[in-house]
Parts: sequence; C-alpha cells; structure tokens
Amino acid sequence: MTHKYPKGPRLRLGFLTSHGGSNMQSIIDACVSGDLEADPVVAISNNSGSEALARARAAGIPTLHLSGATHPDPGALDAVMADSLSSCKVDVVCLAGYMKKIGPKTLDRFQGRIINIHPSLLPKHGGPGMYGLRVHEAVLAAGEKVSGATVHLVDASYDTGPVLAQTEVDIRDCATAEEVAGRVLKAEHALYVQTLKQIAAGHIELG
Ligand code: GRF
Repeated sequence: MTHKYPKGPRLRLGFLTSHGGSNMQSIIDACVSGDLEADPVVAISNNSGSEALARARAAGIPTLHLSGATHPDPGALDAVMADSLSSCKVDVVCLAGYMKKIGPKTLDRFQGRIINIHPSLLPKHGGPGMYGLRVHEAVLAAGEKVSGATVHLVDASYDTGPVLAQTEVDIRDCATAEEVAGRVLKAEHALYVQTLKQIAAGHIELG
C-alpha cells in the first residue's frame, strides 16, 4: 500500500513509549499550538505506570498498555499492536523512547511509516544496548566534540533504518553524560516536531 502525504487534512499520529514521554509531549504541544498540523490519536506504552501514559491521559489522548504482561505471546502482542494502531487509523507511528523491538506484523502493516528518534548522530553510537545515558557515555568516551539527534525509519533491528533528519549539538563544554543528555534531549524535541512538519507538508515522503 502506498501512502502519499499529505493524504488528508491532518496526519494521525500514534505513539509508542516506555518511560518519560518528553518527546511525545513536545509533539503534542506542537499539535495543540497549531505549529504542527497533526493529531495525536493514541499512545501505547509497555509500561503501565509510565510518565508517558500519564502525559497522554492529561492531554486527552486514548492510551493503551501493551506488553509481555498483557500479552505473554510475542506474536499476539505484535498482532494487537498492529490492530490497535490500525483501528485508530494511525498514519505515522512515532517511537518516543520505546525500548522494545517492533514485531513483524506491525512493521509490515505500517511499512515505511514507523519513525524513531535516537539521541546520537547515527550511525554513531546506536544499536543494541545503546539507550539512555549509555549513548552519551559512549559519545564522551569517544572524545566527540559534537553529538546530536537522529530521526530515522524503523526496521527490524535497532537504530539501523534510513535516516530522515539529523541535528548537531556542540558538546565541547559538557563534562558529564547527564549534561550531554540534557542538551541533546532539547534538540530532540525540536527535531522531532520539525521532521513531522516536513512529513505533514509532503517534503519528506514516507512509504
Ligand atoms: C530520548 O532520548 C530518545 O532519543 C530515546 O529515548 C529518550 C526518550 O525520552 N529513544 P522521552 O521518553 O521522550 O522523554
């Protein structure tokens, strides 16, 4: 199936989250302010107590907890995720701090329409185990003077799909991974909204 953007008046966004949800929040805020012509239609988390789900509820967005606890069989979990996103008529699936791999049914159903943000300049400092402060510790250990954030298409592996957009962050005066993380997270918020604006405007075409 081919989806051309803009395909309707507004993009319908589905979020997959695990913990904080600050990237999701920045996108919600941009939708509410009118900066981004899109509607958040569902937020799914594998963590029922996550701040991300609380943020979505506060914004009046339908939420779902889907995890190995709700669906012990990975195939069933994948199927219910794909069906939930479909039934909400999601155009673009936005991973925002989601820590799990996406199953084959969901990948197939939303082929080329699942995007993720990663807190480094991929392909540097990505892949299995590279999440949270580990990314920024690796950046400092490598002696990088510049880090940044990447929005990319999601495939069956971690952090390997085609890059859609990147932004650089000067980290020369950062002494700790926490400092790098804070600076990069701020840049992530802007980059994710900017990338979705490009998608909504048809300047970036998804699958
Ligand atoms: C972000 O740094 C994002 O790049 C990474 O996980 C973090 C999620 O933060 N994938 P939040 O949940 O959006 O606050």
